[in-house]
Amino acid sequence: MTRVIAVANQKGGVAKTTTVHSLGCALSELGRNVLLVDLDPQACLTYSLGVDPDELEISIHDMFVRRVSAGEVRIKVPGVDRLELLPATIDLAGSEVQLLTRTGREHALSSALAEILAEYNYVLIDCPPSLGVLTINGLTAASEVLIPLQCEALSHRGVGQLLETIGDVRAFSNPNLEVRGVIATMYDDRTRHARSILESVQDRYGLKVLDPPVRKSIRFAEAPQLGKSILNHARSSQGAQAYRQLAKTIDVDGSAVEFGG
Ligand SMILES: Nc1ncnc2c1ncn2[C@@H]1O[C@H](COP(=O)(O)OP(=O)(O)O)[C@@H](O)[C@H]1O
Ligand SMILES: [Mg+2]
Repeated sequence: MTRVIAVANQKGGVAKTTTVHSLGCALSELGRNVLLVDLDPQACLTYSLGVDPDELEISIHDMFVRRVSAGEVRIKVPGVDRLELLPATIDLAGSEVQLLTRTGREHALSSALAEILAEYNYVLIDCPPSLGVLTINGLTAASEVLIPLQCEALSHRGVGQLLETIGDVRAFSNPNLEVRGVIATMYDDRTRHARSILESVQDRYGLKVLDPPVRKSIRFAEAPQLGKSILNHARSSQGAQAYRQLAKTIDVDGSAVEFGG
């Protein structure tokens, strides 16, 4: 069975895109076939994989609006084996508007993925920083959700709202959706503060925090403009090791926890 994992948090800058990119590379290193889906009109994932969105003839927008098949839209990620991409361009901002007027709009991504799904062990979906129709499409297509959380003050404030949206998706479009857990990003364990935020998220929402946390490191900021992941840019850095370890945790762990509500 293909595992389809949506990486979601409506807060921007919490490392959704970095997590999708790094986990995708780490899972491909483990020999898995991986498809990445860029659902953000800002196309940061596409760009950071070394693909120039401005030079693409077709993108996921054409899949949603012109019903071009996913097989035609996907491309190979340059320089990484077993890694493919459904790329985004700014056009995706327009699909959001067009999708809104369509019946069954939540299912646009999941229907489009159906014909190619069996070719992959994993599909990782990079959601935009909102809880709009694109994120709902990501959650509807997914079997599980990962929530990256930056460990700083107030970072938990959006979590309740995200879990409500996940609850709605379960009720209306995807009853099998499971919450795999939280990935702690930009973690600074020199502060007691970071630890207490993670504990409070665990206690308050009953969410599992996956091991290990990803520490804050300047190496992450350098990688995207080189079109590389942290795994290729700084192979043996702590950040690269953390994402490799997380990929193993996810790869062996088929079970999820339930959140209360
Ligand atoms: N562990 C980390 N340490 C330091 N910077 C990070 C880390 N993870 C991601 N970043 C940086 O934080 C910024 C936001 O990350 P990004 O993945 O684009 O977040 P999102 O997709 O949630 O908006 C980027 O500049 C990225 O390089
Ligand atoms: Mg992003």
